[in-house]
Amino acid sequence: MSRIPQHFINELIDRVDVVELIGSRVPLKKQGKEFKACCPFHNEKTPSFTVVPDKQFYHCFGCGAHGTAIGFLMEYDRMSFLEAVEELAERVGMELPREAQPQGARSSATEALFNTLSRATQFYRQQLAQSERAREYLKRRGLTGETAARFALGYAPDAWDALLKHMGQSELERARLLQVGLIVERARRAGADESSGYYDRFRDRVMFPIRDARGRTLGFGGRILDKGEPKYLNSPETELFHKGRELYGLYEARQASRTLSRILVVEGYMDVVRLHQAGITYAVATLGTATTPEHLARIFRICNEVVFCFDGDRAGRAAAWRALENALSQVRDGRQIRFLFLPEGHDPDSLVGEEGKERFEARVQNAMPLSEYFLKHLSSQVDMSTLDGRARLGELAKPLIERIPAGLYRELLADEVAKVVGIDRSRFTKSLGVDELKAPKSIKSMPARVRPASGGRRNLVRQAIHLLVHYPQIADSAPDVEGIANLDKPGIPLLLELLDSLKAQPCGTTGALLERWRDRPDVKHLSKLAALECHIPDAQGAAKELAGALRQLADEGAFVRREQLLSKHVREGLSEAEKAELQALLLRKPAARSP
Ligand code: CTP
Ligand code: MN
Repeated sequence: MSRIPQHFINELIDRVDVVELIGSRVPLKKQGKEFKACCPFHNEKTPSFTVVPDKQFYHCFGCGAHGTAIGFLMEYDRMSFLEAVEELAERVGMELPREAQPQGARSSATEALFNTLSRATQFYRQQLAQSERAREYLKRRGLTGETAARFALGYAPDAWDALLKHMGQSELERARLLQVGLIVERARRAGADESSGYYDRFRDRVMFPIRDARGRTLGFGGRILDKGEPKYLNSPETELFHKGRELYGLYEARQASRTLSRILVVEGYMDVVRLHQAGITYAVATLGTATTPEHLARIFRICNEVVFCFDGDRAGRAAAWRALENALSQVRDGRQIRFLFLPEGHDPDSLVGEEGKERFEARVQNAMPLSEYFLKHLSSQVDMSTLDGRARLGELAKPLIERIPAGLYRELLADEVAKVVGIDRSRFTKSLGVDELKAPKSIKSMPARVRPASGGRRNLVRQAIHLLVHYPQIADSAPDVEGIANLDKPGIPLLLELLDSLKAQPCGTTGALLERWRDRPDVKHLSKLAALECHIPDAQGAAKELAGALRQLADEGAFVRREQLLSKHVREGLSEAEKAELQALLLRKPAARSP
């Protein structure tokens, strides 16, 4: 079973936009307060699949499929519970609680490493504050103090042991500094004293902390202040820091805006900082490596559009093509990948400084779609005026198109290539082995149909639970009624538990409530009730209705208890406490009819 705390799931379901999530995979049409689509889980012609944003919940009248954002990812994308939670958490910028991390429990040793990195970040910041020369450098590069603070920029002094002296007093602390890559071990010399066995990795550099989703430093990039090699130095790969995964500026981008509709990937640290300062706060950079599929997967959890931005030089163009190759496996319908090429001799840092936010963003707006860049680049590799050349293009395109997951996008790109090559599409398709349009992988056997509400006798317990499922927030104002526990009816323990749980820790939505019950057998009942329409249109009305039902149940409970005590009185007599209880019950006025 998962060990993710309930409050985390609560907040997650609250923060996720279920319409946006499902809408990115299934085209939804707004209809009143709800959204409709043809159900992705069974075949149908008229839409009966419904997403209810207020409830953070979806259900299908046709096949009975239903669930929350988590359930949707599990069903549609075939994720495990933990994967779905991870994916959604990333989408909304929440960090999984440590104990729930899939790699197993993180130890306190890891906490200690985070602590070391955090103290180093502070140290470098102090050094920046104290170094006239470093501050001058940043100023010359057009950065304000505010920007430096926003990115927690620092300065590593021009010395072999500044950090060592400050933080490496004990062997344990030196071991930690070594582990996070901030100091380097010297070749051993006999007789040398202990602490001189190491030296600072970063010297005379502007320090760019690379931070995780919670803002904790994982590693650094450092730029040499003047001339020197290498110009940029990065922390080595460590247990915490993986260059192929992290993106510089992502934390800051998320700080700037909760919802990002686009991410701009640039090449350099300085580019990111400068763009953010200019108001383009959705810029991130890879850490001196090519963009990996893992980078892109992370980005696409956050938004559906990525624009790669490359310098106009040869190296920039080579990097762009590599980015395209790595992006192909991440192409999906509904995702946009585009490429922006800057004028020769410019990088985003220099260009945004020169022309400002609006003009730079106009360039972003006009960036080239992946398909166009794909064809343009391949066409430039061959002689398009000859038959041989065009056939060669087809050959070059084939293995690349095969990297794209089956779907509409792959079909369309194959179409385009066939058109350019000038061969019949179906022949090209066959030669590619591209599958014809296939139904989404998630279509599976129809779940059992949900039975319509039993029209029979009014069941108060079921009604109360139904109200709580649709409006979990009304539990708070529900009357404290004694006596219900005396009732021996199906559903009573669940009703009481719902009330207890929701009063102790409120849930904002149906979805959050269902997640709280995920691992319990009762969740089946709750989900069925959630999928059943609730005829009460607002929470206020529902609260009144609930209070009425509870009071009536309390009356029933009081009656049952009174009968119990009376018969016990006749059979064996009552204790003092029971006598008092019976007396109170005999005097009790029915709650249901009291105002
Ligand atoms: N880079 C690196 N190691 C180097 C040079 C570059 O890791 N020796 C990475 C860094 O992430 C850097 C990016 O590549 O931010 C871009 O490098 P470059 O274009 O050379 O530098 P700029 O970003 O233009 O840096 P600056 O403006 O400070 O010269
Ligand atoms: Mn630059």
